[in-house]
Amino acid sequence: MRDVAIVGAGMTRFGELWRSSLRDLFVEAATEALGHAGADHLDSIWVGNMSAGQFVGQEHIAPLFADHLGMAGVPATRVESACASGGAALRAAFMEVASGASDLVLAAGVEKMTDGADVTEVLSTAADQETEVYHGVTFPGLYAMIARAHMEAHGTTEEDLAAVAVKNHRHGALNPKAQFRREVTAEQVMASALVAAPLRLLHCSPVSDGAAAVLLCPLSEAKRYTDRPVQILSTGMASAPMALADRKDIAALDSVRQSAERAYKMAGLGPGDIHVAEVHDCFAIAEICCTEALGFVDGGKGGSAARSGLTALGGRIPVNTSGGLKSKGHPVGATGVAQAIEIFEQLRGEAGDRQVKGARVGLTQNMGGSGASSVVHIFKGV
Ligand code: COA
Repeated sequence: MRDVAIVGAGMTRFGELWRSSLRDLFVEAATEALGHAGADHLDSIWVGNMSAGQFVGQEHIAPLFADHLGMAGVPATRVESACASGGAALRAAFMEVASGASDLVLAAGVEKMTDGADVTEVLSTAADQETEVYHGVTFPGLYAMIARAHMEAHGTTEEDLAAVAVKNHRHGALNPKAQFRREVTAEQVMASALVAAPLRLLHCSPVSDGAAAVLLCPLSEAKRYTDRPVQILSTGMASAPMALADRKDIAALDSVRQSAERAYKMAGLGPGDIHVAEVHDCFAIAEICCTEALGFVDGGKGGSAARSGLTALGGRIPVNTSGGLKSKGHPVGATGVAQAIEIFEQLRGEAGDRQVKGARVGLTQNMGGSGASSVVHIFKGV
């Protein structure tokens, strides 16, 4: 396999972007990524998207996007793995360049969630229809069950859950692309509306529109496009039973642990080598479970890690410096690629007020649904 680098990146602001259509969002992000690298052609396009058909009534989006980018003729493929679609698209693009099949490949993610669809219902199509959704449970409810299990098994508290939201809103306030650029206090989080006990409004990622794109090429050619390429050292993916009822321990996310093990092995690194990470905090409890499954902290210690500042900017392992899904926003198909952009900027020293000093190795973890799929990538500044 060839070494692979990211040489350009572009993303829209995340939020309720009513003036832009789905294709506009893609074109904006893709054009910025190409311009960033000074590239004028592509060998292939991968687009992460969960459900354009249900959100805006448009299927077959990848060739449509290629055409609107002015690149009709280029192979273009949509990748779906629910909220991990963006991470899965990045993985597909990485494999295509690593294999030698193509030299210049765009990995993009896009979602338009605010055009009037019943968002909760559309999202719930990524949970088990027969054993979960049929009985009325949707994602806030599933993650509420995971939170309850974590609280009972490990003594995780409502203060721990609030600490994740407070931290990520603090980080997001520093991010010009974030949907919510405002800090919140633990008191505000714990007084916000109950969505599915114990999860409240400010524990949840929002409903968002947005797109993100990165340009990949062989590392050996990266300096043609940028002085500061970021190498993708490894990719790891895993699946797990979709229904919570089919899992041994719902407070432990096995797909995250397994995808991380694979990525660490491929990179020849371990959790202690990571300087900055973007993890899938679709609900506050998810970040707690993911920091444990990634090996950043011991099992059961994810909540106290957030509360102690260990995972904040300035802490031992800063997590979600972009604001995470919680504050930056979560246009589901775009999230995995946007995570890679935050790490790209961090490893190039371009993250501004969010910069982690001396960051050289970073990790992204992107999860589908309640954890039936997870994708991890590890990156190194070159
Ligand atoms: N975090 C912070 N503020 C939020 C928010 C969030 N997640 N969601 C909405 N808000 C704010 C809105 O900006 C609005 O503020 P304003 O009154 O100042 O304008 C207010 O709260 C009410 O917004 P509204 O859109 O009416 O909220 P809602 O009750 O319809 O939706 C949730 C709130 C939490 C139910 C919704 O954001 C949600 O479903 N989130 C989870 C999405 C999800 O499941 N993603 C996939 C994960 S697997």
